[in-house]
Amino acid sequence: MSEPRTPVFAANWKMCHGPAETAAFLARFKQRHAPRDDATVVVFPPAISLPAFAAASAERPDIRFGVQDVHTDIEGAHTGAISAAMVPATGATWGLAGHSERRREFGDTDPMVAKKLQRLLDAGLRPVLCVGETLEEREAGRLSAVLETQVKACLEALDAEGRRRLVYAYEPVWAIGTGRTASPMDAAEAHALVREQLTGFEGCTPGRAVILYGGSVKPANIEQLLIAPGVDGVLVGGASLDPDSWAAICAAGA
Ligand code: PGA
Repeated sequence: MSEPRTPVFAANWKMCHGPAETAAFLARFKQRHAPRDDATVVVFPPAISLPAFAAASAERPDIRFGVQDVHTDIEGAHTGAISAAMVPATGATWGLAGHSERRREFGDTDPMVAKKLQRLLDAGLRPVLCVGETLEEREAGRLSAVLETQVKACLEALDAEGRRRLVYAYEPVWAIGTGRTASPMDAAEAHALVREQLTGFEGCTPGRAVILYGGSVKPANIEQLLIAPGVDGVLVGGASLDPDSWAAICAAGA
């Protein structure tokens, strides 16, 4: 079982909101969302908008931000890629790795995701490991096996200190951007499976690991997801793009 903890509200903007939209979003969001010390708010804007995000949130350190992806290398001939080592200078403090869109569109494999987590850790960033099954995998009864493979590939590659800092996001692929949300029971079941994988790894404390749920989270379903056993917060795509909707989500559980 997990212990109750302060929720994490994470927003994944994907390839939306350039610098100007980022500034406009924050102007509105800052009015709609007062700092909460009983929750963590973190936004993952596109990398090109990180400086705009830093500037527009300068007086609101409670609104943390991070990078959506980094390269497996620190530097070199990788046109278009971003090194984790470059990220802290922007003020960003978190990083995603293994999002299903990266796995599907860019071919990110488990060993690559593990490497990216290590790069994020080396840069002093808080890494979020995204895992989740496709509909086909779920229907074939492979939920547990998929989560085990994705989680263990990363835990085996990290040391105890790295594992200690890891945050997890369970995002069933069939629920991402589809409007189809996992039921609170589905989420609770999958989060328990993720938690189970942590047992026996030095540095992991299954009951204290922070596991977010992602996939069509919106103001209308946030409260019930947040009370599902083992759900420690959410990773939100579409419904985080509008400042009012995002503020409504970040008000949950208060
Ligand atoms: P969604 O995306 O909320 O639009 O389903 C979630 C995610 O991909 O992180």
